[in-house]
Amino acid sequence: MTFLKLDHVTKRYGAAAALDNASLEIEAGEVHALMGENGAGKSTLIKVLAGVVRPDDCSLHIDGSKVPLEGPDDAARQGFRFIHQELNIVPHLSVAENIVMAQAYPRRFGLAVDWRRVHDKAGAALERLDVDHIDTRRKTARLSTGDQMLVKIAATLVSSDAHPARLYVMDEPTAALTGQECDKLFAVIEGLKQSGASVLFVSHRMNEVMQNCDRVTIYRDGRTIETSRIAETSRERIIEAMTGRAIRDTYPARTGTPAREMFCTVEKLRTKHVDGLEFSLKRGEILGVAGLAESGQSEVLHAFLGDEKPLSGAVTFQDKQTLPSAPSVAWKRRIAYVPRERRREGLMLRRSIVDNAVLPHLGQLGSARIFSSRRKERIHTGAIAERVRLKYSRLGQPCYQLSGGNQQKVVFSRALGKTPELLLLDEPTRGVDVGAKFDIYTLVRGLSAAGSTTIMTSSDLPELIGMCDRILVMRDHRQHAIVETDGLTPARLLQMFYE
Ligand SMILES: Nc1ncnc2c1ncn2[C@@H]1O[C@H](COP(=O)(O)OP(=O)(O)OP(=O)(O)O)[C@@H](O)[C@H]1O
Ligand SMILES: [Mg+2]
Repeated sequence: MTFLKLDHVTKRYGAAAALDNASLEIEAGEVHALMGENGAGKSTLIKVLAGVVRPDDCSLHIDGSKVPLEGPDDAARQGFRFIHQELNIVPHLSVAENIVMAQAYPRRFGLAVDWRRVHDKAGAALERLDVDHIDTRRKTARLSTGDQMLVKIAATLVSSDAHPARLYVMDEPTAALTGQECDKLFAVIEGLKQSGASVLFVSHRMNEVMQNCDRVTIYRDGRTIETSRIAETSRERIIEAMTGRAIRDTYPARTGTPAREMFCTVEKLRTKHVDGLEFSLKRGEILGVAGLAESGQSEVLHAFLGDEKPLSGAVTFQDKQTLPSAPSVAWKRRIAYVPRERRREGLMLRRSIVDNAVLPHLGQLGSARIFSSRRKERIHTGAIAERVRLKYSRLGQPCYQLSGGNQQKVVFSRALGKTPELLLLDEPTRGVDVGAKFDIYTLVRGLSAAGSTTIMTSSDLPELIGMCDRILVMRDHRQHAIVETDGLTPARLLQMFYE
């Protein structure tokens, strides 16, 4: 039975419409996927439903009756719970405060906050996710992004007598989670569904949608294209509805790695956070780095960036006996880096697309900013934006106005400013839509054919196997193994994380 019906949802920003007469219908007790390319309007729709973005037009019916949607209180009254795309936790508060904050704090005799109950409630919510490694007393800022996401998910699971939850809205909850954490989330989602609640689920990962959702609605350019039962549709159909073109949901063919010259040799390398690194890389090779969450994958990249200092071991790299001593030196040595946390270390959100895309290239575009012509910067940025199919209205637009996936593309554009010798990619396709993923894969393959070496991490195991020549498996911050990807399966790779 239809529980929620949204119609005529329109939201304009200046001349551009983020949503253009979009609609959505959710049944009671179903897991409903909302899919669409980066910038299609998914997060905007969710913000309208949450009452945090005021639409130009919208009508909401619950159980057949029209209900108002004027602000966040209306959404809360209907029992809607939200996990927004960008982390909106309060970093200086404890885990418990962040989890319980969405509801009122439990009080003793109606006066002081009952801290014991706050921690008990938070602990119980984390337990539902089968998470026992997060101390509810810790400051949330100290947690990894994955753990912060678990805290956000837990916050929606806190029970409330005043407004029992009827709809859980999750905007890309899995983008920051590992495979195992995703499995736990899907188990929880199944439980929510059994209890009669509905879930609206946004993800760019086709497998997750095909395996865990009942129906899917597809948006393109702010409009509803179609809603179908997962059992009656296919990946190809969904991709075509999203993009309006047929795209392969696969990896570009390898051009074959010719015998190339050696690019770097690493022997017994130890830094503060990783140990036992031992491998060599040829020019044009793509090396994956994998492992359970927080096993030192990112730190391997950081060693090449110059902010993880070698403590012992030997490295021969770019015909030198040293690694870069600092990130600024790395940039001069043509080492490009796409960070994992685009909002924390990747982007200046209030600055324009051009500023974000060109800042590190000023040396290349002109000797100093004042001498570099804005025109040159714009041409340069426009060309790269086209290569990654960036969706924007003008190059001077501040980055906070871009959709999540398009922000990631801006970060990627910066790394492609000049052809790198070494490309360091930390979860490069997180939050990026299928079409753009394929474009990014093609770009990386192209750079590889031209001689750039790549080291990339990813929690998407098929992606690592599809893109890399070899995979370095990390365990407890140590190199555990290095394997060829030929014939490797995701299941076998996952097994190596544990054995
Ligand atoms: N404050 C704003 N000002 C101007 N444009 C905006 C603003 N917020 C969103 N937009 C635009 O609205 C469109 C839809 O964005 P939205 O965030 O809803 O996309 P999305 O489908 O969630 O994409 P993604 O998969 O990348 O998260 C985008 O083109 C975006 O640039
Ligand atoms: Mg979004």
